[in-house]
Amino acid sequence: IAALLLTALLGYLLGSVPFGLVMTRLFGLGDLRRIGSGNIGATNVLRTGNKTAAFLTLVLDAGKGAIAVLLARALLGEDAAQIAGFFAFLGHCYPATLGFKGGKGVATFLGTLLALYWPAGLAACGVWLVMAAIFRISSLAALVAAAAAPLLLYLLGMPQAVLFGAALAALIFLRHRANIARLVTGTEPRIGQK
Ligand code: G3P
Repeated sequence: IAALLLTALLGYLLGSVPFGLVMTRLFGLGDLRRIGSGNIGATNVLRTGNKTAAFLTLVLDAGKGAIAVLLARALLGEDAAQIAGFFAFLGHCYPATLGFKGGKGVATFLGTLLALYWPAGLAACGVWLVMAAIFRISSLAALVAAAAAPLLLYLLGMPQAVLFGAALAALIFLRHRANIARLVTGTEPRIGQK
């Protein structure tokens, strides 16, 4: 049990690294909290106009989730992998270092899912891409991909992770409350729009 607690803590710490803030600072793009939605994710970094910084944020935020899962799996097995992924996701959304005001978890969710069970991860990325290509709204693509995740895990052969997928999806919806309100009123900006 001590090992699992340590896994959760390490996952959380890894997830807490806000790469969006790191990248915008590194590239000298100003205070991300004062740009666009104020969110620390790749979508909002893209609103600075710097595609490289946005891409790096996406890859690193996804990567920290994936690394948490892969490390825990290698050291402690499959249950630990899910715990590490879940806590990395929590770390991204609620980092202690930022007063528990973190991101919306989409990149980290996709990264953990890819590492946990790549067929479902790949399918969720596919859902995101198709939705984004059609509607050009990042939050909408994320919400649909998140909602699809538990179903994809079930259908593609990892029913033991359905609860994990459902928990992450529920939290993603919770983190997107403001986006959902804007989607309903038709005021949610399109990808790359300020
Ligand atoms: O990944 C977060 C995205 O779904 C929404 O981001 O900045 O438009 O609120 P944002």
